[in-house]
Amino acid sequence: MPFNLEAFEQNAWRMLVRGSVDKKHAFNLVQIGTIGAGGTPQIRTVVLRKVDIDSRTIAFHTDIRSQKIVGMDKPIAIHTYDTRHLLQVRMQGIPILHHMDDKATQLYNQLHDGAAELYLSSVEPGKVISAPDAPIGRLDRSEGLANFCWIDVQITDMEVLQLGETHQRAHFTYGSGASKTWIKA
Ligand SMILES: Cc1cc2nc3c(=O)[nH]c(=O)nc-3n(C[C@H](O)[C@H](O)[C@H](O)COP(=O)(O)O)c2cc1C
Repeated sequence: MPFNLEAFEQNAWRMLVRGSVDKKHAFNLVQIGTIGAGGTPQIRTVVLRKVDIDSRTIAFHTDIRSQKIVGMDKPIAIHTYDTRHLLQVRMQGIPILHHMDDKATQLYNQLHDGAAELYLSSVEPGKVISAPDAPIGRLDRSEGLANFCWIDVQITDMEVLQLGETHQRAHFTYGSGASKTWIKA
């Protein structure tokens, strides 16, 4: 079969969608790269919560008090690799933060208790504590909303690398002047 750039792109997006709905899929976890305080590069793992192919957005949620928020006023990088399918996806995009707005409120209210629990600590992530099990105040579920931040990332660039007998690598850009091209693996 001849190589097909459109099918190659669609496959990557479909795999991302699968990652967002299937906890066992490798793409359920992505690494986000930010420029942190003082210009230092930072990488963190987050759960891929939503992928919308039409709008080319992906989303995750986090604590608004966490250090990663520092880098969210600039483009961020996203990386994920599926060892079973030998597929790597690297993206860049613009984060759009939803905090205490209608979207954040609606999504926070839909969280199951285990997920909401992440936002119920009275102590912010990254704070120095005496021991991992040090007693920490617990907020009511309604109070956790103030800590919850939903982040949509508007993807501007995507690079897909499929390892195989013939490696396939392509670069896609979105928005004005959208483009797609094969590149050397
Ligand atoms: C498997 C896994 C999944 C994670 N998922 C999330 C997530 O969805 N959101 C999040 O904020 N942090 C998540 N984390 C934790 C982050 O990687 C990071 O350690 C934490 O958010 C603290 O980051 P900070 O430096 O911004 O405080 C996850 C970590 C692991 C190992």
